[in-house]
Amino acid sequence: MKSTYLAAVCTDLTGPSSIRILEKQARPLSPGEVRIKVRAAGLNFPDLLMTQGKYQFRPDPPFVPGLEAAGEVIEVASNVESIKAGDRVMAGGKGGALAEQWIVSETSVSPLPPSLSFSEGACWQTGASTAWHALVERGHLQPGESVLILGASGGVGMAAVKMAKHIGAIVIGTGSSKEKRNAIKEAGADHVLDPASSELAAEIKALTDGKGVDVVFDPVGGDLALTATRAISWNGRYLIVGFASGTIPSFPANHVMIKTYSLIGVRAGESPRRDPGQATRQSNALRDLAALGVMRPHISHSFPLAESANALSVLEQRQAIGRVVVELHTSS
Ligand SMILES: NC(=O)c1ccc[n+]([C@@H]2O[C@H](COP(=O)([O-])OP(=O)(O)OC[C@H]3O[C@@H](n4cnc5c(N)ncnc54)[C@H](OP(=O)(O)O)[C@@H]3O)[C@@H](O)[C@H]2O)c1
Repeated sequence: MKSTYLAAVCTDLTGPSSIRILEKQARPLSPGEVRIKVRAAGLNFPDLLMTQGKYQFRPDPPFVPGLEAAGEVIEVASNVESIKAGDRVMAGGKGGALAEQWIVSETSVSPLPPSLSFSEGACWQTGASTAWHALVERGHLQPGESVLILGASGGVGMAAVKMAKHIGAIVIGTGSSKEKRNAIKEAGADHVLDPASSELAAEIKALTDGKGVDVVFDPVGGDLALTATRAISWNGRYLIVGFASGTIPSFPANHVMIKTYSLIGVRAGESPRRDPGQATRQSNALRDLAALGVMRPHISHSFPLAESANALSVLEQRQAIGRVVVELHTSS
């Protein structure tokens, strides 16, 4: 194991341009920890927000972004029994993945299924857990129901398209360019729409025989959210996932009452941390889905570690389709 390693470090909260590739000193493991040689790190929208100081979890610089990665275990603490050096794994944490080495707790590591490459594994957990948690645990999406997925070309959006099709739902996805709409269709959506259309609510209703969609999956927010509530069915379920548009919507209570729809908050990471029963359900479901290759991520951009700032800029400029990955080829 190398005593020093390279990491992409956010040096101040001015966004991707503040990223510097710096050498860091490897620290000894604490009980329950595992050291991973990172082969690929998947970027998520919260990584971008963290470099701008705009995420709910706001680490002070200098810090290493990166919430998920895949690689090989190179060391485990003496009390770790479920994982050993040499295992190929996927891992999640609250930052630090954009580096040649990453220390995480034993509980946040799972085996990399043979069906996924290192890059796919690095991009699997956040999208898959968010899509599963929102659609299954919170949304109770049923086969034959209709679901509108906003931001369907994004990381969590595309995982949601694939999860909803796996459930057997009728999927309508929005994508802001022809290229994005083609990719959403390829991911399995039954219908694709342009979120900028002035007739969007009417177009969604036309696709659902005038009824509106049973479920909305919304990682975008802003004005699009209010348009989507005009196309939700009586008794519909509106899943509030995120605010990639940068604007947090306010929903008029009278509209919620008149259409009797439910606004449902989604926190795919925090909810299982607070509810051990849910954590078990979620990890069992995700293990099975990963083994089946369900929600295999679509990766539109990959960069070496040295270009981590450019990788984050792809998210900032709304260019990603599916996922952006940083691939590492460490020599030790
Ligand atoms: N609640 C949870 O548990 C949970 C878990 C993970 C992520 N999230 C949240 O989900 C959101 C999406 O994350 P992600 O990783 O999927 O992001 P992403 O890959 O960047 O996708 C976001 C999508 O939103 C759309 N969008 C609309 N306005 C945008 C804007 N101004 N800038 C960027 N994108 C815009 C884009 O699609 P179009 O161009 O087609 O509009 C884009 O594909 C984030 O807010 C994140 O924090 C929540």
